[in-house]
Amino acid sequence: MKDESTPQRQTPDSLMLYGFWYRALPSQQARRNRLQKAMLLETPLVIGRDRQGLPFALHDACPHRGMPLSFGWFDGQQVECCYHGWRFDPRTGQCQLIPSLTADQKLKLDRIYAGSYPCEEHDDYIWVYIPEPAPAGAGFTKAAEPPIPAPRVPALSDKYKTAHLTADLPCSVDHGIIGLMDPAHGPFVHQAWWWRSRHSIHEKLKSFEPIPNGFRMSAHTPSSNSAPYKLLRLYADADSITTTIDFVLPNLRLETIRAGKCWFSSLTTVTPITRDHCRIDVVAAWNIFRWVPFGSELLKFVFAKFVRQDQQTMEKQSQGLKHSPHLMLIDDADRPAKWYFQLKAAHLEAKHAGGEMKHPMAGPVTLKWRS
Ligand code: FES
Ligand SMILES: [Fe+2]
Repeated sequence: MKDESTPQRQTPDSLMLYGFWYRALPSQQARRNRLQKAMLLETPLVIGRDRQGLPFALHDACPHRGMPLSFGWFDGQQVECCYHGWRFDPRTGQCQLIPSLTADQKLKLDRIYAGSYPCEEHDDYIWVYIPEPAPAGAGFTKAAEPPIPAPRVPALSDKYKTAHLTADLPCSVDHGIIGLMDPAHGPFVHQAWWWRSRHSIHEKLKSFEPIPNGFRMSAHTPSSNSAPYKLLRLYADADSITTTIDFVLPNLRLETIRAGKCWFSSLTTVTPITRDHCRIDVVAAWNIFRWVPFGSELLKFVFAKFVRQDQQTMEKQSQGLKHSPHLMLIDDADRPAKWYFQLKAAHLEAKHAGGEMKHPMAGPVTLKWRS
């Protein structure tokens, strides 16, 4: 292993991980009787809703001559291609009708598939499972069964509220993710008079531990300059507030803050759209502020401001990245980013060689930085 104390040159590889669930689009964008385009991992998708309101996701290219099915029609039962009118079952992608066939032509329709993808809807989003791509030239058959259900926002009681936010980032998924886990940009990017100034920077000590497919910033009292903490302090004893932050492959950041019976949680994802474009989606859930007018608006305002600041920063950064500069990851502030790359490499290695993934962290670690 390389000496951890010297800066490592590191260029994100922007490899996209197949075989996981991804957020395709916010629920409200998928409507009945309308076909909506989406893109995940450079895979074009068409998303719709059937008569029961259940979402479906098909490969957005007709198996006949590649016409995007999103230009076609959906009558609530079958998706019809706009070019020669082939019809497909929205859930299985199986071909149901080829209008040009005569009665005596016995083409086996049931062997023709427009690719379909497992699709679930939770917490204001449509999730789609993207399997390992089939070898080039192999057509589609039935959809792969996902090994696990789509991720959920942590919820610690029955009644709660949610809100979501989304922002496009003009960079690879790797830059989006390491930007998300990077503690050192806070004082410079996330300044606001009601929040913090760069003078509030101070030394922090955080413990991390390995968890399956990721790492956890162990339960601790949140930094005195974190927004949800400032809000929660109005409700609970400062000492009773704890927060846990998990990162889990391929792209999940889960945060849970508890203060007695009050809780606040979020699931943030950075989704690869193409190799150099990703999207950040945040869904927050909470049972605080249910009795406070404007409580959720306030929280939304704080979150929206943060996400916008990150987005604007990455827009500027992308101008620099165009020219493929050499990059560095330093200790300890960039150690989570290093773990991310190591986790990704270990995941791909295990997939390639078979067997269990070798976790890059041997055990708990304490990191120190100023932010
Ligand atoms: S391209 Fe779709 S029916 Fe021909
Ligand atoms: Fe940020």
